[in-house]
Amino acid sequence: MPNASTDRSDAGISVIAHRGASGHAPEHTWPAYELAMEMGVDFLEPDLQMTRDGHLIAFHDATLDRTARGPTGICTGPVAARTLEEIRRCDVGRWFNERYPERARAAFEDQRVVTLDELFARWGDRVRWYPETKNPEETPGMEEALLELIRRHGLRDAAVERGQVLIQSFSPASLHHLRSLDSELPRVQLLPADAMDGRQAEAVLHEIATYAQGVGPNRALVDAPFMAAARGAGLLVHPWTVDDPGEMAHLVALGVDGIFTNFPDRLNTLLGRDPQTR
Ligand code: G3P
Ligand code: CA
Repeated sequence: MPNASTDRSDAGISVIAHRGASGHAPEHTWPAYELAMEMGVDFLEPDLQMTRDGHLIAFHDATLDRTARGPTGICTGPVAARTLEEIRRCDVGRWFNERYPERARAAFEDQRVVTLDELFARWGDRVRWYPETKNPEETPGMEEALLELIRRHGLRDAAVERGQVLIQSFSPASLHHLRSLDSELPRVQLLPADAMDGRQAEAVLHEIATYAQGVGPNRALVDAPFMAAARGAGLLVHPWTVDDPGEMAHLVALGVDGIFTNFPDRLNTLLGRDPQTR
């Protein structure tokens, strides 16, 4: 059921910085998050992986290979097999300069992985948060660690009362587990493009509404019938990941509540928002 934290009555369109402003800077690095904050986003999205010694880091992949550079014996393979101290030896920005030379900057070299603890410590309640439990089946204890950080940084009550933190996952089991730990914290079920699998959106979304307050659908799922079904189920709708302004405008016209984007500046422009006044 929707609660105060996810009530749509006073809602605008939420600008959700996907892995930070990751179209402009390497995902999940300080430059990506700092840029997103400068752009005046509503939410920062950290994907979460858990290290061998139990730290939650902002990192998308289950393995280090795509975005980490450094000693091969350390900066490859599963995140869950490395300690935080080991992963800190890896450069998590250089890959961006290699892959996107037209957007490369010297400042992106030698970036170190960022923990959720550090992110919360830096911006706390100055922005809303959209952490995602990644790989939860492989790293038990992730949900407990996340809730401990939310509480330690004083974000729990604001999450319940006004959606300061929305927790997302592709894993229904992870969301059910979170619910069992703290039923009041808002949860969002992510949906891949093939989520309907021949089923009616109405049935799928009504089932989700029994344990979550919102859905994060792959953008390809969102059309007028999907929106009608989501509204019928009382669910927020935050599609991902949308970088094309024309597609953003289409989704806004359909009535979505927010959009995950690698280019928050484009969505701000579309919405007529001036970062300086937000
Ligand atoms: O969390 C929304 C979206 O980010 C899901 O896809 O793979 O980018 O985490 P992914
Ligand atoms: Ca994500």
